[in-house]
Amino acid sequence: MNITPLIYSLAKKLLFCLPPEQSHDLTLATLKHVPDALLRTCADTRLIDTPRQVMGITFPNAVGLAAGLDKNADYFNSLGQLGFGFVEVGSITPLPQPGNDKPRMFRLAKQRAVINRMGFNNKGLDHLLAQVKVRRFGGVLGINIGKNLSTPIERADQDYATCLAGAYPYADYITVNISSPNTPGLRNLQLGEQLQQLLATIKNGQRDLTQQHGRYVPVAVKVAPDMAAEDINTFCDVARQLKIDGIVAGNTTSSRDGVEESPHHGEAGGLSGKPLTLRARQTISHLAQRLQGEIPIIGCGGISSGEDAVAHLQAGADLVQIYTGFIYGGPALINDARRAISESDKTHG
Ligand SMILES: Cc1cc2nc3c(=O)[nH]c(=O)nc-3n(C[C@H](O)[C@H](O)[C@H](O)COP(=O)(O)O)c2cc1C
Repeated sequence: MNITPLIYSLAKKLLFCLPPEQSHDLTLATLKHVPDALLRTCADTRLIDTPRQVMGITFPNAVGLAAGLDKNADYFNSLGQLGFGFVEVGSITPLPQPGNDKPRMFRLAKQRAVINRMGFNNKGLDHLLAQVKVRRFGGVLGINIGKNLSTPIERADQDYATCLAGAYPYADYITVNISSPNTPGLRNLQLGEQLQQLLATIKNGQRDLTQQHGRYVPVAVKVAPDMAAEDINTFCDVARQLKIDGIVAGNTTSSRDGVEESPHHGEAGGLSGKPLTLRARQTISHLAQRLQGEIPIIGCGGISSGEDAVAHLQAGADLVQIYTGFIYGGPALINDARRAISESDKTHG
């Protein structure tokens, strides 16, 4: 008998008595001391995954951990043992920064949601690089990059270029995060001239780094689920024209639909989890229709069951990522998602 779900539900009861950020930190610090062999017992060994070829990389399974949970890559080797096919660490910025004042993360337990305004708190690029050099996780490693708060938005491309160059030798893919709602002005980088300029800088950097390292590392761009339809269309056209390798759709939402009754609904920040599911799926579907398979999509937002994962794939995603569902559902959600995807693969071929 696998007693992991029981242990998880007991631990969750205790952890949910603590403020969310404290319980997050405590869980991860504890996880780091658990032997890999024990962590691997959380993953259902009876599951047979179909590996996915996406962005030229073979993903052992389609279920990944979204960025933000392991911002500094301190825990990816342990988290990776739980059954994820890929783990995205970051967002990382060139220099360390403290992020916003606490409290900055709020649990909306009834709605199975979270509001956060962490503000890219992280230990900086050098720290992350020291961590990713030591790799036990056998799956795919994504590194998500951002900009420092102190860098003016007009010079954001320099921060992204610095992170791209640093992360390049160690990442299987790199995600350019221009969709966090918690860094002022960041989401404007998704639009018009600013988008064009930033992505052109990134693609030039990628070309030079490919020569330098003799290896092509794909670059994905992470977008918000709050973009207007015409902005999504323009984004797709630019991404196509510049041959962006992938799109992560998407980040947290600024909307408060579905959480009006929570005492936390008025907190500033991005909303994630169950209330985001349909909004995220609509964005995936819109992107997929516009892109017609030309650029792969990593579907993220509100996955809290195996069915959600399959529905994101059916809407047009090639892979999925989870964050908030994992906080509420634990490692069992990874198994559920992998199982549902395997069954759907069998049915639909
Ligand atoms: C506390 C918290 C911190 C996050 N930090 C980041 C981040 O640093 N970079 C990023 O790209 N996304 C970040 N995200 C967004 C998640 O990666 C994900 O896109 C979003 O939460 C939607 O997925 P979910 O509903 O499964 O949580 C964060 C989310 C949460 C809840």
